[in-house]
Amino acid sequence: PPAPPNVMIIFGAGGDLTKRKLIPSLYHLWAAGLLPESFVMLGLDRLDHDDDSFRSRISEHLHQTYGTAFNLDAWRQLEERIHYMKLDMLEGSEYERLCENLSRIDAERGTEGNYLFYLAIPPSMFRPVTDHLGEVGLLHETEDDWRRVIIEKPFGRDLESAIALNADLHRNMDEEQIYRIDHYLGKETVQNIMVFRFANSFIEPLWNRNHIDHVQITVAESVGVEHRGAYYEEAGALRDMMPNHLLVLLGFLAMEPPNSFDAKAIRDEVNKVLDAVEPLTPEQVLTHAVRGQYSAGTMPDGEQVKAFRTSAGVQPNSSTETFAAVKLTMDNWRWAGVPFYLRTGKRLTAQYTEVAIHFKKAPTIMFQDTEVNELEGDMLVLRIQPNEGIQMSFGAKVPGPTMKIGTVNMDFCYEDYFGNKPATGYETLIYDCMKGDATLFKHADTVEKGWEIVQSVIDVWAALPPREFPNYAAGTWGPAAAGDMIKRDGRQWRRIETPKGHPRS
Ligand code: BG6
Repeated sequence: PPAPPNVMIIFGAGGDLTKRKLIPSLYHLWAAGLLPESFVMLGLDRLDHDDDSFRSRISEHLHQTYGTAFNLDAWRQLEERIHYMKLDMLEGSEYERLCENLSRIDAERGTEGNYLFYLAIPPSMFRPVTDHLGEVGLLHETEDDWRRVIIEKPFGRDLESAIALNADLHRNMDEEQIYRIDHYLGKETVQNIMVFRFANSFIEPLWNRNHIDHVQITVAESVGVEHRGAYYEEAGALRDMMPNHLLVLLGFLAMEPPNSFDAKAIRDEVNKVLDAVEPLTPEQVLTHAVRGQYSAGTMPDGEQVKAFRTSAGVQPNSSTETFAAVKLTMDNWRWAGVPFYLRTGKRLTAQYTEVAIHFKKAPTIMFQDTEVNELEGDMLVLRIQPNEGIQMSFGAKVPGPTMKIGTVNMDFCYEDYFGNKPATGYETLIYDCMKGDATLFKHADTVEKGWEIVQSVIDVWAALPPREFPNYAAGTWGPAAAGDMIKRDGRQWRRIETPKGHPRS
């Protein structure tokens, strides 16, 4: 069913996120019949635009993106619901005009006073903007209408600033009005981790320390820092990815079955997982955490890539990491003694997000004298992106008169079963927020717990600048130290298939 009537007000409507993700999502939602007839999107920014010029800027981008598949009818209908208002977002006196505009829209378009404010703006503006919205009463809900605010990461840059940011937001809103986006929660395959675990009965009995040896979570990116050098120079791989996206994956993988598919029940279980993660001591950071920075190199497709330090907005002697790997353990009944190895980085060999669950080896006494070909052990791989799917690897007899065992794969591929549905990952999130379903959004607690887990790594890395940056070449699988970290435990990173002829991890 379509969401209830509402106005979605985008702060920062002139930016990339609006163009690349938000508008395409609205277009997909509209085409799927999930937006109400009484829907208006009001874009706010400082750029000089009127409705027409704003609309044509967007439609140009959609034309380019979808080419002949562009559904012009759907776009025409949505387009007339899109408006633009030039506004200095930091200027309190401007907000009266916003109020008037919204009242007019409500009266003319039947949007019923329901407002979704989307803050696609730098974090330093969260507080002034929400203060101004609060001052003019736009965050005040009544029984008849709702007011919600969607906030994009980064939620702070460490534990202390995250706590301060949450306190700032709570000055003008209740926690229930705040929808913190972690776009990994919007990914189909991430949500499917829960379905896979809890809608099937065969997997759950194996999902614990008795059967699982260890888990590897890899978010590898072949892209560099693109146009975000200045942001990334301040953030680095750890802050950018670990306390948020990688811990979302960890939370869904490790949680206990929730009592229901309800926002609170799920959040509580994820929070319990994060509480159980054992914080690294400063000494452990030296052995359980690895950082890297890329130098110039050649990508698998032959592209010559320059070193991170030469990117715009990055210091020539930068000590910011573009790769981070961490080994975490949990102190709870299900996972005691099972290491979770997390790694992420830019300019790695391939663009690849996956979770590999490595099962314990079978007591292969029976096959002691058997020739074993490349047996990696039983493994379940959840491919988050691209080529979304689930793969089970196990040993099988190689046909022939002698007893040989090799690894074979059983592979489920989303596209084969469900076709390829265009989606940015934001559709579900925007639609859920309009319906008031916060299941896939982050609670203040969860954000803070994420920072708590990585805080000791942040502290130790800040205190001890890296000695040998850059330490991996673009187009490889990251610094050698990441391999050494896992090798010390007698394990190795999973060899991810890469384009032909290129080194594997
Ligand atoms: C963002 C990070 O949150 O996630 C980016 O800031 C990163 O640096 C991106 O590239 C990865 O998202 P996805 O959906 O491409 O895996």
